[in-house]
Amino acid sequence: MPAFNRHAMQPVPSLDEQARQDFVCSLRAHLSGRLMPGAYKVYEHRVEPSFRATNGRNPQDHDEVRKAMTLDPFYQFWSAMQRRSQELLWESVIDPTERQLPDLIETSKSLARSANQSGRGTLRLDPALPLPRYHAAVDIHLQPGGYHTEFTEDDVAAGVVYDKGINLYMGGALGAENNLMGDILLAYLRDKHPDFRPKKILDLGCAIGNSSVVWARAFPDAEVYGIDVAAPVLRYAHARAEALGVPVHFSQQNAEKTNFDEGAFDLVLSHIVLHETSKSALPRILGECHRVLQKGGLMLHLEIPRGKSIIEKFMHNWESYNNNETFSRFMTGIDLKAEALKGGFVDRDVLVDEFAPKLDVAQMNYAENFFWKILAARR
Ligand SMILES: C[S@@+](CC[C@H](N)C(=O)[O-])C[C@H]1O[C@@H](n2cnc3c(N)ncnc32)[C@H](O)[C@@H]1O
Repeated sequence: MPAFNRHAMQPVPSLDEQARQDFVCSLRAHLSGRLMPGAYKVYEHRVEPSFRATNGRNPQDHDEVRKAMTLDPFYQFWSAMQRRSQELLWESVIDPTERQLPDLIETSKSLARSANQSGRGTLRLDPALPLPRYHAAVDIHLQPGGYHTEFTEDDVAAGVVYDKGINLYMGGALGAENNLMGDILLAYLRDKHPDFRPKKILDLGCAIGNSSVVWARAFPDAEVYGIDVAAPVLRYAHARAEALGVPVHFSQQNAEKTNFDEGAFDLVLSHIVLHETSKSALPRILGECHRVLQKGGLMLHLEIPRGKSIIEKFMHNWESYNNNETFSRFMTGIDLKAEALKGGFVDRDVLVDEFAPKLDVAQMNYAENFFWKILAARR
């Protein structure tokens, strides 16, 4: 079972629930560690040669690979099991959450009350904020109800479920507080700008605030703001940050157009958010980053891997076709520098590091050559 730091906002699983979570974790480790490598072999030894024999050439892009691979029985088996493991994952965390939800809601209210009194961290919700269609249309990565659905008053369930769910999804590789994304981006910033000391930081699409907390701890003199479109994850983020004793200001806003003043921040971040938006939202978000940054400020985004070869790209795009990550397959083909320029940044100030240099991060096998990063300075 992966390490996961306990705090007041987490449900305690019963022995049976714990056993189910352990099973899901082991199943996923087996699927990704033992079976998934087989899909690469099947492609090399069976699918690609057969495609060549039929077409007189190799597949040219990941879509052609997909059409050929989806006919292969080994791939079909792995893919079906992978999809089922994702469904089981949510089921295994929803049961203990549902059972303890009234208590968790009370705890979140009590943490919010003490935050109110101390005035350190804050939460501002906007029930009138329209939910972007790219979130309303599907349950992203199959989490029932997505990040946004409220099943009851003052609901925090989506946040509770997401927190434990991503811990299991990555087999604990995200760290005991799901801190890896923040750690990687922080290490990257320190590598590129060792003397940069931000005073006001904005974390876009912060969800449960797992990365916001990393930045607030790294720069205790800075004010940290986290925004998200989804209320239940924000309620959870606020209570979680308070339970961990880290002050963050959370608000329900759309990163495409926020209510922050022009030039309000010297560092704007996002962690694995852009691939869950849309073609039209992406340039609007990058434009908004430019608007809210002060001169000399930095924009920094961490994104999911794209893969080097067409078979790697195809395997990464599995999530798009089978796990409701609908936009991520388009992201693999987008020129992010061009998008940043559309947002107002200037060519020589934008750096896109797809295969990043070695970073000083604990879970190195994930940090190295895996996630890509976009760094841009506001002129
Ligand atoms: C994968 S989660 C983010 C994970 C988190 N940032 C981390 O560091 O692990 C994506 C989040 O982005 C939010 N989101 C997507 N589009 C958004 C938008 N236009 N404005 C604000 N939040 C958005 C979603 O509601 C969701 O909570």
